[in-house]
Amino acid sequence: AIRPVILCGGAGTRLWPLSRAQFPKQLASFDGGPSLLQNTVTRASGPLFEAPLLITAEDQRFLVRDQVEDAGAQPSCIILEQQGRNTAPALAVAAQWLADRAPGEVMLVLPSDHVIDDVPAFHAAIGQALPHVARGKIVTFGVRPTSPHTGYGYIRVDSAAPGAGSVIDVAEFVEKPSLDKAEAYVASGAHFWNAGIFLFRAEDFLAEIADHAPGIAAWAKAAVEGGASDGPFFRPAEDNDAAPIEPISVDYAVMERSRRVAVVPVDMGWSDLGSWNEIWSRSDHDDQGNALQGSALTLDTANSLVIAGGDTTVATLGLNNVVVVAVDGAVLVSARDRVQDVGAVVKALKATG
Ligand code: GDD
Ligand code: MG
Repeated sequence: AIRPVILCGGAGTRLWPLSRAQFPKQLASFDGGPSLLQNTVTRASGPLFEAPLLITAEDQRFLVRDQVEDAGAQPSCIILEQQGRNTAPALAVAAQWLADRAPGEVMLVLPSDHVIDDVPAFHAAIGQALPHVARGKIVTFGVRPTSPHTGYGYIRVDSAAPGAGSVIDVAEFVEKPSLDKAEAYVASGAHFWNAGIFLFRAEDFLAEIADHAPGIAAWAKAAVEGGASDGPFFRPAEDNDAAPIEPISVDYAVMERSRRVAVVPVDMGWSDLGSWNEIWSRSDHDDQGNALQGSALTLDTANSLVIAGGDTTVATLGLNNVVVVAVDGAVLVSARDRVQDVGAVVKALKATG
């Protein structure tokens, strides 16, 4: 069976003010229903899957535990980080924890901030990947690019006309390319977006980490060896005898360098809810292309996102392509083509206290 390993440590600052330091986006609901994390848990439950393993920040442990239980799952373990070091160290610790306790385990790595509309298609892709994982492959899931998004990884394949259902060796993996390159990749027809979801055996991943990022491998081994359990929680010994490590994502540390990466193309209605623009795109629109939530009134306004939280009423007049989000005593007003930079707002607010 497959062990879902859910990454739940990002801050999601580009979705401020809905996403906050103490309440990041993956714990938030964008439609009043279950949170992104809860949907992630649900989409990886059923006969194919073991109880999930989660990796999150110490401060969020109770929120995460409660949300997972409310979604009807019992976590097999919640690994708590005192400090986020990005996804390569987080996954190295998770893989080490699993390899020590359940040899041969297959990990399904899931970011907690994604939407997948067609879950059966997702499960079918996992089924196609499994025999390749059994032969030692590190499998990624490839989505047909629809724009030259520079926040994603791009996967090149050399076989002709790859379609859904095939499993293909990856010729090249490029994480977060420049806009020029991303445009060329989209035009080439030979590239997929990396969905950020991975399937591999814990031991195979550890071998790749040891090859391509030996410092992280040594650190993670010591961190798990010296770690301590506390009910459902596990605290790795982050300060250990191994040398300290720098934050790095698994995409740069492993996927760009490993020679055993394969991709399963999949059409599953995937999106990464990375910014307000994705929230706007996915929402229902009125005749003017506005997406509205809560008590929102738009006059002579077009192609905008307006979210009025709680008792707040928001009215806009004579605006185009704006984002207004008013929740919990904070208001964001942004041009829609600038929402990639909302993280800078959060930084500036922190700096001014
Ligand atoms: N536990 C933990 N610790 N989780 C983390 C940490 C950390 O230090 N940093 C990030 N995460 C979690 C995030 O919460 C998210 O669920 C997941 O790991 C991926 O991190 P992102 O920061 O959202 O990555 P990205 O979107 O920039 O890029 C990745 O995903 C893209 C698709 O959404 C890459 O894999 C890209 O190649 C990919 O295209
Ligand atoms: Mg992301």
